[in-house]
Amino acid sequence: MKNIVITGGAGFIGSHVVRLFVNKYPEYKIINLDKLTYAGNLANLKDIEDKPNYKFVKMDICDFDAFYKLMQDEQIDGIIHLAAESHVDRSIKDPFTFARTNVMGTLSLLQAAKLYWESLPEKYEGKRFYHISTDEVYGALEMTHPEGVPAPFSTKASSEAQHEAYGEDFFVETTKYNPHSPYSASKASSDHFVRAYHDTYGMPTIVTNCSNNYGPYQFPEKLIPLFINNIRHRKPLPVYGKGENVRDWLYVEDHARAIDTIFHNGKIAETYNIGGFNEWKNIDIIKVVINTVDRLLGRAEGEDLDLITYVTDRLGHDARYAIDSRKLQSELGWEPSLQFEEGIEKTVKWYLENEEWMDDITSGDYEKYYDDMYKGR
Ligand code: NAD
Ligand code: TYD
Repeated sequence: MKNIVITGGAGFIGSHVVRLFVNKYPEYKIINLDKLTYAGNLANLKDIEDKPNYKFVKMDICDFDAFYKLMQDEQIDGIIHLAAESHVDRSIKDPFTFARTNVMGTLSLLQAAKLYWESLPEKYEGKRFYHISTDEVYGALEMTHPEGVPAPFSTKASSEAQHEAYGEDFFVETTKYNPHSPYSASKASSDHFVRAYHDTYGMPTIVTNCSNNYGPYQFPEKLIPLFINNIRHRKPLPVYGKGENVRDWLYVEDHARAIDTIFHNGKIAETYNIGGFNEWKNIDIIKVVINTVDRLLGRAEGEDLDLITYVTDRLGHDARYAIDSRKLQSELGWEPSLQFEEGIEKTVKWYLENEEWMDDITSGDYEKYYDDMYKGR
């Protein structure tokens, strides 16, 4: 592999993947293709923007002609596809944008890659189309665990034991797709198109489905950065419903490492689930975030607990996501490197030390979106 396009590289996860590849593989040319929507921010990549093996291209993944030309001009061998509309709340308000980018955009990339790779003498030899997806395509799991097993599981050890005992209570690679939100429906559709390009044309594809990520550079519309910022400014923390929904959290650099491992060593046509063995109820994670921010800002621990504001639940709010990533662990040797307590400490510290990054985003246009989204909450 020499010339690799990473789509959505100016976003949250994409920027970590671009950074990892640019630093780790000086022999590769890494092209970051991003439309720079509200979620794309080149400030995420300041530290690597001058590296000789890095190039940024502003492009919409739906622009078939432009992408086909890029494939030819840059002789692209591999595509790591992260560009997407990614926020469930936005998908509830504006599903069309999600269908356009996530479904039609992915299809456009697939078709351009097909035409270019099939035009080469070696065809698909040494090529790869790696599609990054979400665990949300599987739908939602039950909140109730088998008797005797406490939930949620906030340490890796207890969670691994639980996976061992109750594997059927988790998303595995063969779990039937059952998406509920417009976001997850659009991601599910794009996953199907990727697999169809393998099954129909023989394109070397891989799909991975990952749980909720957290860490630096996440856009402050998602739970953790939004709440860190609100606590800092002593603004209300809008907890949907009773705050009892469960998510499985993975530190973003661990996801980027998994993507590296799978891109290089994963089996063609396979699916791998990626998860943190790290389930938390929203309300419990929110309390950890409040205590951590308060401590790091020198406030009395728990001082800001009264910012918690229960608001109307998200429509169709999935109860619980939890990934069984043992296939990836056993076949490719990847596992999460961080315990959650360590990851959340690093994350909160990063947001507090990078106030300028946050303030640039939360002023201007985003503020308008924020007011619109959270009016009256
Ligand atoms: P993000 O919203 O932070 O970033 C998305 C990036 O895609 C942005 O840089 C944006 O400018 C770009 N983009 C959007 N539409 C585009 C278009 N039409 N053409 C070109 N670029 C476009 O998203 P993220 O959280 O980094 O997620 C990245 C990928 O990982 C997505 O495919 C998402 O479904 C998947 N994923 C995310 C999570 C998570 O917890 N964030 C978990 C599992 C999977
Ligand atoms: P989010 O970060 O939007 O990720 P996802 O919906 O993909 O899981 O939300 C994480 C959880 O936090 C989810 O159960 C919804 C909840 N949530 C709130 O309670 N309040 C908020 O303001 C946000 C953004 C999310």
